[in-house]
Amino acid sequence: MYMSTDEVRNAFLKFFESKGHQIVDSSSLVPANDPTLLFTNAGMNQFKDCFLGLEKRAYTRATTAQRCVRAGGKHNDLENVGFTARHHTFFEMLGNFSFGDYFKEDAIAFAWEFLTEVLKLPKERLLVTIYETDDEAFEIWNKKVGVPAESIIRIGDKKGGKPYESDNFWQMGDTGPCGPCTEIFYDHGDHIWGGKPGTPEEDGDRFIEIWNNVFMQFNRHADGTMEPLPKPSVDTGMGIERISAIMQGVHSNYEIDVFQALIKAAAEVIGYEDLSNQSLRVIADHIRSCSFLIVDGVMPSNEGRGYVLRRIIRRAVRHGNKLGAQGAFFHKLVGVLAEVMGSAGLELKKQQAVVEKVLRIEEENFGKTLERGMAILSDALDNLEGKVLDGETVFKLYDTYGFPADLTNDVARERDFTIDEEGFEKAMEAQRQRAREAGQFGTDYNAAIKVDTASEFSGYNSTESESKVTDIFVDGQAVESLSAGEKAILVLDSTPFYAESGGQCGDAGVIVTQAGQFKVEDTQKLGNAIAHHGEMLEGVLAKGDAVNAKVDAERRQSISLNHSATHLLHAALRKVLGDHVTQKGSLVKAESLRFDFSHLEGMTAAEIKEVERLVNTHVRQNHDIETNVMDIDAAKEKGAMALFGEKYDDEVRVLSMGDFSTELCGGIHANNTGDIGLFKITSEGGIAAGIRRIEAVTGEAALDALDAQQEKYEDKLSEAAQKAKALEKEIAQLKDKLASQASSNLSSQAKEIAGVKVLVAQLDGADNKALRGMVDELKNQLGSGIIMLGNVAGDKVGLIAGVTKDLTGKVKAGELVNMVAQQVGGKGGGRPDMAQAGGSDAAALPAALASVDSWIEERL
Ligand code: ALA
Repeated sequence: MYMSTDEVRNAFLKFFESKGHQIVDSSSLVPANDPTLLFTNAGMNQFKDCFLGLEKRAYTRATTAQRCVRAGGKHNDLENVGFTARHHTFFEMLGNFSFGDYFKEDAIAFAWEFLTEVLKLPKERLLVTIYETDDEAFEIWNKKVGVPAESIIRIGDKKGGKPYESDNFWQMGDTGPCGPCTEIFYDHGDHIWGGKPGTPEEDGDRFIEIWNNVFMQFNRHADGTMEPLPKPSVDTGMGIERISAIMQGVHSNYEIDVFQALIKAAAEVIGYEDLSNQSLRVIADHIRSCSFLIVDGVMPSNEGRGYVLRRIIRRAVRHGNKLGAQGAFFHKLVGVLAEVMGSAGLELKKQQAVVEKVLRIEEENFGKTLERGMAILSDALDNLEGKVLDGETVFKLYDTYGFPADLTNDVARERDFTIDEEGFEKAMEAQRQRAREAGQFGTDYNAAIKVDTASEFSGYNSTESESKVTDIFVDGQAVESLSAGEKAILVLDSTPFYAESGGQCGDAGVIVTQAGQFKVEDTQKLGNAIAHHGEMLEGVLAKGDAVNAKVDAERRQSISLNHSATHLLHAALRKVLGDHVTQKGSLVKAESLRFDFSHLEGMTAAEIKEVERLVNTHVRQNHDIETNVMDIDAAKEKGAMALFGEKYDDEVRVLSMGDFSTELCGGIHANNTGDIGLFKITSEGGIAAGIRRIEAVTGEAALDALDAQQEKYEDKLSEAAQKAKALEKEIAQLKDKLASQASSNLSSQAKEIAGVKVLVAQLDGADNKALRGMVDELKNQLGSGIIMLGNVAGDKVGLIAGVTKDLTGKVKAGELVNMVAQQVGGKGGGRPDMAQAGGSDAAALPAALASVDSWIEERL
């Protein structure tokens, strides 16, 4: 019976729904509130606290198709990807879970029913493993299900390993829920090499593990102790790719529908024909982890999760280059991926443009350094004595050319070399040490603090409470009491202080006892406790003390206004820019708010204005801000905006502001949108490929921002006016200077008519005042003479005549200027020594001026 991967996914979820399981969405690849985990690596991650008994949900049975990445941390498959039939950086894990509900017997029966009755796999092809000492599981498989004893294989702890280090004892990480497991294997047939689990040939490809059923019984602590869980539970995981391979009659995961589509698409964009090439598989695998990591908010960077993402992208790019890819190709696979993922690809479809852009930019940047790095690496390998590339070179390639060590390893491996990983780690550690010394990394004392108590939050409707001190920490160490001047963390049994979360900053305020006062500067979560960070201002305080905890109410009020405005902003952005806008982060403080969202282009001034206006419209409409606690499905039905991949409890708070905004939110808000007063965006800009950031202010701060803006404009205006005045003055001076320069040039052009110096000239662009100055200047220079200047400015003709006193008896300036003026459509006259006139016929000026010489000659 053929089934597509999408059909397998749906069949699984439906089957477990019919067995009373709640279908729960896959959680984000970035684990919520779990610093012990780099990426979500199993379906059970999001239920960790349910297993530990720390979290209660409305259901005790759940089923999911969880996206997982195993490319770092305890479960890391990166290096094997492409070289084996079944290792992936990204895969989906189908799982069913019982939180203290059913245990071994039902878990085994469900698994068997699904495989043999829904998927109709032949029973004789299935065999199982159990933990060596798990007789109970043996009995169930053998007696209840009827699996023959020879098909039930006991697997113990690894030889030379630690206790419980076994393929049949599953652990999430070094700490956390764990327990013995039973695994179900499928026999792909004797045409494939490989032996049963537990035999020396077990690593062959004939018997493939398809489903792991873990009987969660312990919580493993960092020191290795195993604490029994409150209630035995079940956690199962079946890689969808493996079971789909069986349902599609193929052996390698890379032959299933999803991978075939990706491999074909990769071959096409690269222009490569041999579909069986391993590099195509690597690319097909990597586009999945990279795209979904970006969807879940991870961005390529040089540390932590971002660095793992960068490494995977670079590995993919290099494999593309090996096949001859020209230019960026990797990002072109995102669309195909969104399509083939079926119901698991819907969010990717929405964010497709952003994911493509992030990948394209990363590819392009890497392309630039790749060539140089490869040349250096080839050179190093060519000149290598022996077979191991030294750690220093690997480090230099990493540090200078951005070559992740696994990439260097990959290239080396292709040429039969290995790399000195230890030497590389040493060089890395030396660099970390340098960075630490340079003060870039602080020590996180909080990481070491363990608090068992849980604090109750009482601050939604009040800012003050009577409470009791349950824990005190100084420098990461639990202490009994505090005295003035000490910096510390206080934990109370209940508190109105809001611990930073969901982008809202932590509260500040004071905690007062009869004998002292503690100033709270910040409030943070610490496990299930709320930690008040601050300093003992005066007196003393001890564990068990009764205290009055008082939040700085004014600051809190400003924070809540900004938080409500953030919701309006989110809704307005979606209205103005489109539904692709999703929140990528936010920071709500007393002074201002910050909102990061996915959007490819910078916003135009008009868009910013429109968003601002829309928010302010809804501020004026003064909607009631309503909070309702409801179950998550009801909230989704109501259309509440939830952050994709965010971990929500079953009971959620839904914040609504009229019909305009409905969002899931645990934060603190104003009572009415009108309380916000005024909303003003202070900046908009890009912070990463495809991610924009808006900073804004509300209320009083918005007025301040407007005032400041107005003042800025006024200052600018008066500055501009002053500048203009100074320029005008400078221009006038320059004109005078020009005029005197021009006149000294002109005076040399004077000719003699009957022994009298006569200067006739046409100037263009001068102004009247300058002309007068020029005539005076020319008279001085000539000593004795007659001057006639014509000037065209625009379509106006300006005329000026000057006669030195000794000649005015013979030639009058007024008459001369009038004679010329009449020829250019004007009229004029004036004093005998200096006269001006205007005209309108510029074209006639040259001829008019030419007539001057003979006119003068007649009079001399
Ligand atoms: N959590 C188990 C696993 O990942 C089911 O194999």
